[in-house]
Parts: sequence; C-alpha cells; structure tokens
Amino acid sequence: MLVICPNCKKHHDIDEKRIPPNVKLARCKGCGKPFPLPSSGKILLVPKVPLRKKLVPKRTRIIGVSLSKGGVGKSTTAVNLAAGLALAGSKVLLVDTDIQGQDSFMLGVKAKGGLPELVTGELKPEEAIVQARERLWLLAGGESLAGLKRIIDRKDFGGERILAKTLEPLEKQYDYIIVDTSPGWDPLTVNVLFYVKEILAPVSLEVMTLQGLVEFLKSVSSIQKSREDVSLKYIVPTFKDDRVKKTVDVLARLEQLYPESLCEPIRQNVSLSEAPAYGQTIYEYAPGSSGAKDYRALVRKVADDDSLFR
Ligand SMILES: Nc1ncnc2c1ncn2[C@@H]1O[C@H](COP(=O)(O)OP(=O)(O)OP(=O)(O)O)[C@@H](O)[C@H]1O
Ligand SMILES: [Mg+2]
Repeated sequence: MLVICPNCKKHHDIDEKRIPPNVKLARCKGCGKPFPLPSSGKILLVPKVPLRKKLVPKRTRIIGVSLSKGGVGKSTTAVNLAAGLALAGSKVLLVDTDIQGQDSFMLGVKAKGGLPELVTGELKPEEAIVQARERLWLLAGGESLAGLKRIIDRKDFGGERILAKTLEPLEKQYDYIIVDTSPGWDPLTVNVLFYVKEILAPVSLEVMTLQGLVEFLKSVSSIQKSREDVSLKYIVPTFKDDRVKKTVDVLARLEQLYPESLCEPIRQNVSLSEAPAYGQTIYEYAPGSSGAKDYRALVRKVADDDSLFR
C-alpha cells in the first residue's frame, strides 16, 4: 500500500499485513508527524493542508473602510487589506460601494455588474461577484450606484438596511467582508455603517484630516444610537513622511486621542500610487516596497496573528 504523508508528502510503501488491526495512525519517517492510515489497498491522497487554520475567524468579520474625507487612502487600504488577508489564507469578499468603482480597476478585473445589479436582482450573486484572485472576490461599485442611491432615497422605511439585507445571505461563504466606501456622507455610506461591525478609518497625516476624523466619528456615534454593534476598531495613519514635521505632529496627536485603535502607519510610498495602473496589488507590483511591508503589518494587526508573512 502506498501512503503519502499529508504533511511533508514523503511516499511510504507499507506492507499492510504488518499493520496491527487496531492501529489507525502511523508516524512519518520524514517529518516525524503522525497521520491517519487509509483503509487497506488504497492510496492516501494528499489532502490540502489549510494554509493557516488559526487565521480563519469563527464568524465572518465585516469591516468598513471609511472616512468622509476624500483621498485619504480608503481604496488603497481596502484593496491591499483584502488581498493581504486572502494571501494569508482567508476567503475575502471586497465590496466597493463607491461610484468611482476604483477597486475593480485596482485589481485589474472587469465585472459586468456589481453591487447595484445584485441589490435590484438583475444579477444573481454568482454573476455579480467576480473572483479577482485566489480566495479574493469582488463585488464591484461604479456609476450605476447612482440608481441605487435613488432607490434608497425613495424608501420610507428600512432604506438604511438595503446593503445589509443584500449581503447577509452571502456572508457565510467568507471569512472577511471588506467594504470600501466613497468620500462624503450619503445614503450609501449610512447603509455601510448600518451593515459593518468594525470600522477602519484611514487618516492621512494632515491637520484637516484630523478634523475630518472628529466629524466622521460624530456621525458614527449618531448611527450607534440605533445600532450598537458597530465600533471604530482601527485608525490607520496614511501618507506618513518623516521629513514633513506636520505629519509627525498629527501622528502624535492621534496617539494622544485614540491610543487603543491606532495602528502602525502606512508610509508615503510611490509604488502604492503606481500599482493600480497595472491592475496589481502592492504585493504583486512591489513586494519589497515599504508600502507592501506596511500593509502586511496591517493584515497581521487585523487578523490578530503576528506569524503571518514571517
Ligand atoms: N501611502 C501612500 N503613498 C503614496 N500614494 C498613496 C498612498 N496611499 C494612497 N495613495 C495614492 O493616493 C491617491 C488616493 O488614494 P485612494 O484612492 O486610496 O484614496 P481614497 O480615500 O479611496 O479616495 P476617495 O475618497 O476619492 O475614494 C491614489 O492615487 C493612491 O494611489
Ligand atoms: Mg476610494
């Protein structure tokens, strides 16, 4: 009987007659790890070992990447966080709720529809959601979201839960759902905040953005009055540049104000701004760049697993 160790793939030719009847496990001479013996006469096929069992959370984590101020790195963070979690072994759905529809461009995938078509029922989930990478799926945004905003506006009741109602039935298939939001504050942003459980706010290190964060958090607390299970979990400083004194000052202020949610900053990095033109994530375009290093650190923080990518 040919047995292949599921751990190190070493082949063992075992004489079945010499296996005592009640013995179910063997120890591999290659890696020393035990593995179950197959029933007689069969070849044990190598089962795929899950990449990182520890990483897979018990319940789907639903994270909104959000801040009203524009150009702070929301889409860059949503795409590279989602792609990093997928690389580390989790199943991830990235949902783009922005009319600019940049996430599909950044990942270099074309979708024939996306979130609006899923909400209206024009497309089934399997048609609206496209696979962008291994373990990474995208529900694209885009211009037709304008129509969805009108649908939300026209609703007398429950308009704020349209996104939640659309995505809840799909949640179980994923370990993480990462939702990218548009700048500003509109019915779709409210929908995102009525759906996600955790908020990740990218904050570019400028005084104006700090004010924007304070304003945004006021709006979040007004939503928390009707929905307690959403919280600001992560503040991610972006565009860190140690040569500019003001960014150092703003970072120090963030440390004072939000010590619990503050994450390691993402440095200003030209590769992060170049990668989208090639439809590549930062890990593909420039894996050794400071941008890739910083986003890997963010993935470790969000997944709460220090061993990832080590
Ligand atoms: N750390 C960084 N270093 C250099 N460039 C960056 C960095 N992060 C993002 N960028 C670039 O800055 C621009 C704005 O980033 P991004 O689109 O992610 O912001 P956003 O908050 O999603 O914007 P919007 O509010 O318009 O949706 C993009 O051109 C992006 O490539
Ligand atoms: Mg964006």
